[in-house]
Amino acid sequence: MTEVPEHLLERSRQRRAALGLGGGDAAPAETSSAAPAATESAAVEKTAPAAAAKSEPAAVAAPEPVPPYVEASLRRKRVPVWVLPVVAFLPLWAFLYAGSLSEPEVEAEGQLALGATVYQQCAGCHGAGGGGGAGRQLNNGEVLLTFPAIADQLQFIAVGTAGFQGKPYGNPDRPGGQHIGGSYGNMPAFLGTLTPEELLAVTRHERETISGEMVPAEQIGPEGELLYANGNPYLNDAGELVDENGELLLAPDGYLLNPSTGPTESGPVVAMGG
Ligand code: HEC
Repeated sequence: MTEVPEHLLERSRQRRAALGLGGGDAAPAETSSAAPAATESAAVEKTAPAAAAKSEPAAVAAPEPVPPYVEASLRRKRVPVWVLPVVAFLPLWAFLYAGSLSEPEVEAEGQLALGATVYQQCAGCHGAGGGGGAGRQLNNGEVLLTFPAIADQLQFIAVGTAGFQGKPYGNPDRPGGQHIGGSYGNMPAFLGTLTPEELLAVTRHERETISGEMVPAEQIGPEGELLYANGNPYLNDAGELVDENGELLLAPDGYLLNPSTGPTESGPVVAMGG
């Protein structure tokens, strides 16, 4: 649509008013006398070409009609500034997203990762690397010398030194002599503090991560969980610690139900069929 410039409209208005055609703002006043109107008309006639000549350059200078395609491009919404960084980081995002999809890698060491977290409750006494302190040294195979069988270690951590006060625990043939509960200091019982899963996890952390026990590959499940040699898990569906036959491992008080090297008054180990 083309707009008629205001100065041209004004000129037309003046012209119509001068001719007494009406439509101009000044028209009613001027129709009162014809003579002034005539002189006015003459005056307008005289100035009109001048005004036209004067307005000519302005008309030329008026903005050229913009081609529709250029106009469209001018009117189109610009790409917002934030798009560039977003697009630039897209590959990084894609990379991270792809990485987050390979979750099983983290799950593959689920129990050991949990164990490392739980061990923070033990590190104050046993040292972050198991070097010992207020608690006994656990690293460099030390904890494996005390507990060749993991079940005995689970029991000891569950009942603490209170459960073996003045009594030997762990391997009777331990190099350097069997350990006696309380002879080195006192350790709290963790039965009520840790879930069975956490108890198993921190025990594995001490044995495998800190003390370097090599667990056969076939005894590590698909999610990194510890399995018995017969392939059965250490935790049942209810989250309880069980033996290789799926029977409960610990009594409610934390002692082994079928102790191998438990408290001396527990009597001899009863061999289970199978
Ligand atoms: C308040 C200090 C303290 C804390 C906390 C502590 N322990 Fe102990 N721990 C000890 C002491 C002391 C002994 C030695 C007991 C003895 O033989 O007299 C010990 C012994 C042990 C042993 C036996 C080592 C051996 O070779 O005889 C294990 C296994 C163990 N602790 C595991 C843990 C775990 C797992 C935790 C954390 C969940 C933990 N401890 C937290 C003080 C502590």
